[in-house]
Amino acid sequence: MEAISKNFFLYLSNNKVLDRLAKRFGTRFGADKIVGGETFSQAIPLIKQLNHDGLQVTVDHLGEFVESEAESRKRSQECIETIQAIAHHQLNSEVSLKLTSLGLDISKEIVMENMERILQEAERHDITVTIDMEDSTRCGATIEIYKALKEKYRNLGTVIQAYLHRSHEDVEELHAYDPYLRLVKGAYKESGKVAFVDKPEVDANLKRLIKKNLLNGHYTAIASHDDAIIKFTKELVKEHGISKDHFEFQMLYGMRNQTQYDLLKEGYTVRVYMPYGDDWYGYFMRRLAERPANIAFAIKGIFSK
Ligand code: FDA
Repeated sequence: MEAISKNFFLYLSNNKVLDRLAKRFGTRFGADKIVGGETFSQAIPLIKQLNHDGLQVTVDHLGEFVESEAESRKRSQECIETIQAIAHHQLNSEVSLKLTSLGLDISKEIVMENMERILQEAERHDITVTIDMEDSTRCGATIEIYKALKEKYRNLGTVIQAYLHRSHEDVEELHAYDPYLRLVKGAYKESGKVAFVDKPEVDANLKRLIKKNLLNGHYTAIASHDDAIIKFTKELVKEHGISKDHFEFQMLYGMRNQTQYDLLKEGYTVRVYMPYGDDWYGYFMRRLAERPANIAFAIKGIFSK
């Protein structure tokens, strides 16, 4: 049943008609519980509150695919404006972005040009940028772009997905680049040819990757809501004497709020990934696919507005 529901919501996440409808209706249907707002201005008071509580943030301007160079440039300009707003409002926030929103499917040149503009602005304000990882067909290109940019820009991270067979090798290869890696299980629908399909295998691989990257000596973001992964990390760092300023926990905005505050109280760094923008539909559907319990607040949202 869980697999059917997961596949159903992953299928819906790619539905263009529903995507267009979602933009018309705004973040009702419960999306406002996990999305910071339809504009960055709406997200600012929420970020200030999280910062005030001691939580750090990374913001993601929702939106994945662009169809023209002009659109990709518009997206990179919006990203630059977000970086400027973070600096202006003195928010404790990094930026996360998706390369497809900057023209990855158009050409490598355009995505590099857009990224360079963003990273120059980010460097000016000492703000870290993390490249999200999308589906497996784009993983190789994303890693190559990350490596090329990391040679020039220090404050740059990317994401490694534990469900991919290739991830262990990627972490190994990135070792030479002093990477800032966010380690996740992986959120897309992938085939058994490229990914582990059994959850215990994904969980075990995530643990292996966390251990590898931490023991390689790199600052690591453990991005999971899973108590077993959090417990594993706590035990690992204790066993190897890794200090709390070498890693952080990351969770999605609106997910496991109590756990975020509990970790904070225990002295860990916790960063909240806050998406914003009117292109929230695909993101929302992937979260419903991950956790059927989220469907409850979506249904509540439909009837309460
Ligand atoms: P998983 O979904 O495996 O759940 C394990 C257990 O955790 C559950 O059984 C439950 O006990 C508990 N749990 C999980 N969610 C809960 C909730 N909301 N409330 C209460 N309990 C809950 N993916 C990707 O492909 N590319 C990317 O770039 C990113 N980026 C990213 C950034 C950040 C900050 C996070 C946290 C996640 C991502 N992801 C991602 C998504 C990631 O790949 C993954 O799909 C989700 O985090 C879900 O996996 P978990 O490890 O959280 O637990």
